[in-house]
Amino acid sequence: MNQYENGNKILWDELTDVHIKSYGVDKFKQGKSTLDEIQLREVGDVKGKTLLHLQCHFGLDTLSWAREGAIVTGVDFVEKAIAYANKLKDETGLNARFICSNIYELEKNLDEQFDIVYTSQGVLCWLRDLNRWAQIIAKYLKPGGIFYLMESHPIAHIFDDTIKGQLKITMPYFHNDDPIIWDDHHPDYSDQSHLIENPSYEWQWSLSDIINSLINAGLQIEFLNEYNKEFCFALPDMVRQDDGWWYLPGYEKNLPLMFTIRARKS
Ligand SMILES: C[S@@+](CC[C@H](N)C(=O)[O-])C[C@H]1O[C@@H](n2cnc3c(N)ncnc32)[C@H](O)[C@@H]1O
Repeated sequence: MNQYENGNKILWDELTDVHIKSYGVDKFKQGKSTLDEIQLREVGDVKGKTLLHLQCHFGLDTLSWAREGAIVTGVDFVEKAIAYANKLKDETGLNARFICSNIYELEKNLDEQFDIVYTSQGVLCWLRDLNRWAQIIAKYLKPGGIFYLMESHPIAHIFDDTIKGQLKITMPYFHNDDPIIWDDHHPDYSDQSHLIENPSYEWQWSLSDIINSLINAGLQIEFLNEYNKEFCFALPDMVRQDDGWWYLPGYEKNLPLMFTIRARKS
């Protein structure tokens, strides 16, 4: 693990405690899925299929896929998150396996192939090497298996996320090997009352970086969809509508905020 990943692991250790309180665990225990209608539709029927969830945090989405009938394995590098995922598994009686591992070291901890490799919502910015990431996905897919990603659109990352009332471009669209360091104690996206203590080290990846990494790993892109809404509060003017998605009023026809990809291993 390099120094930046180590820093991010410390950050995610901090945020795991916050999110266990803010992510709606009680509703999940009562049976509510954390998966939205787009992911359910675009991934398709998972009943009886094996599913590997990369960067699963403390397992709510992984366990929601188990409720849909998938045979699930979740991976994350934060020990506390994996311990809590196992606790949730026991409390809900759902069938799942959780592995504590950096995804870049997963080959030391897991040797099998899956029908589906899945990752979503706030995952790519933590990854230092996208070509390697795509190779790992390809390695863990069975022939004919699918990879699915739902993620914030990279264009949504270029705006100053502190200014209300206007969109001001202050951040790069294109990738740089040196991470962007955030150490301004900004509010957490899920619990605005929590000011983040630890720095984060994040990498911007353009849409072509993402697509080409998957193509270079031998996967065939089945679709790329762009959406005018987000899964979390990412810019200060965003408003959550009754459908649960976050929108940027006035820009619904101008700006993609989220995308999904499905790709297949031949
Ligand atoms: C935004 S969260 C995951 C998204 C998930 N949909 C959620 O919000 O519950 C990002 C996750 O990536 C994990 N992570 C970051 N870098 C990682 C790495 N190199 N290997 C494994 N997990 C990593 C963090 O621990 C964190 O749980």
